[in-house]
Amino acid sequence: MVTNYSRVVVAYDHSELSKKALKMAMDLAKQDQQIELFVVMVMQPDKPIPYAYGFGVVELLEEQLERANTLRNEIEQELESLPNKTKALLLKGNAGMMIVDFVKKNDADLVVMGSRGLSGLKELFLGSVSHYVVQKAPCQVLIVK
Ligand SMILES: Nc1ncnc2c1ncn2[C@@H]1O[C@H](COP(=O)(O)OP(=O)(O)OP(=O)(O)O)[C@@H](O)[C@H]1O
Ligand SMILES: [Mg+2]
Repeated sequence: MVTNYSRVVVAYDHSELSKKALKMAMDLAKQDQQIELFVVMVMQPDKPIPYAYGFGVVELLEEQLERANTLRNEIEQELESLPNKTKALLLKGNAGMMIVDFVKKNDADLVVMGSRGLSGLKELFLGSVSHYVVQKAPCQVLIVK
C-alpha cells in the first residue's frame, strides 16, 4: 500500500472488525515512522458499550468509564510496539459526529474502520457509524470487511 498518509485515525468499538481495522492501521504505520496513529473510542451515553467484559449489562456510567479506560490502556500498550507517534483516546457523545469532529480538528488524512460494529443486525453492508463517517469525513475512509 502506498503510504503517503500523515495522520491516521482508527475508529474502535472493540468489535472484531474494529480489531481488524486497528491491525491494518498498525501495519500501515509500520511502513512509515512518520505516520501518527490515533485510536478513537466513543462512549455514547444513550448506547452503553460494554467494552471488554460482557454484553448487555446495564452498568453505572462510572463503571463503564473504568472499563473503557482499561481497554484504552491496553490499546496504548499495544501501540507502544510501534516507533510511531501514537495515542488512544476516549471520547463521549455521538460516535459518528465525534469521529468526524476529531478527524477535522486533527487534520487527519485517513480513517480506518469496520463496515459493521457491535450491533447484531447484518442485513445492511454498512452500520450507521461507518455510513455517517464515509459521508461526512473530509478525508479518505478505509472500510475493513
Ligand atoms: N462508539 C464507537 N467508537 C468508535 N468507533 C466506532 C464506534 N461505533 C462504531 N465504530 C466504528 O464503526 C464501525 C462500524 O460500526 P457501526 O456502529 O457503524 O455498525 P453496527 O454496530 O453494526 O451497526 P449500528 O451501530 O448502526 O447498529 C466499527 O467497526 C468501528 O470501526
Ligand atoms: Mg454500532
